[in-house]
Amino acid sequence: MRFTVLTLFPELIEQGFSASITGRAMEKGLLELRCINIRDFASDRYGHVDDYPYGGGAGMVMQAPPIYRAYEAAVREGPRPRLVYLTPQGEVFTQKKAIELAQEEELYILCGHYEGVDERVLEEIATDRISIGDYVLTGGELPALVLMDAVSRMVPGVLSNEESGEDESFMNGLLEYPQYTRPEVFMGRPVPEILKSGHHANIARWRRNESLRRTKEVRPELLEKAELDKTDRKFLQSLESDIEEKN
Ligand code: ADE
Repeated sequence: MRFTVLTLFPELIEQGFSASITGRAMEKGLLELRCINIRDFASDRYGHVDDYPYGGGAGMVMQAPPIYRAYEAAVREGPRPRLVYLTPQGEVFTQKKAIELAQEEELYILCGHYEGVDERVLEEIATDRISIGDYVLTGGELPALVLMDAVSRMVPGVLSNEESGEDESFMNGLLEYPQYTRPEVFMGRPVPEILKSGHHANIARWRRNESLRRTKEVRPELLEKAELDKTDRKFLQSLESDIEEKN
């Protein structure tokens, strides 16, 4: 999969993406990164890419022409790619979206700055508008790295078998169960006995229950969409009666 990122801070994207698992995947040729510096397409020789907002108000707005020229230079004669514009005004990013975007061979990402981007260039080139959550960052670069990381690990071959994401948070609509490794006792806290039992079915049930317990405590709304069987529901009910007993 190839990412093309239109940004004012290409070093930030390159550095962030070259680390760790995504860096290894680039070396293996599974992922490719191309950063286009929007400033190279500025309208004047001072490198200006922003201007005052029509209608007044605080802050500056990124101008349409430099972004459009950067985009055209990247696309050349090729087909119009899918382009994600990162913005707090977008739909909230989820694991489902990451899986969907990982199907693309080519993904363009536009990082905004200042108070926003001239709407007209977005209408022209953006196919998706995505927010990474209900808070405001200073620019789209960190959100771009978040999105690229989540998408990349869903590209076949990027994760090794051991790292593979099938078992973890959100893949089954629940939060992940707690994990333990050596030492067996830390600060007086032992590893749960069952995890040392070697009894795979019991371990799987314990993990499932802990996932359910956590999800109910921290993100109860996820339970409404998760696929739950009879045993799951019984366990959740037992948690309710535990609470009632305590009260
Ligand atoms: N740019 C600034 N804040 C953002 C957010 N929360 N998500 C995506 N892009 C952003």
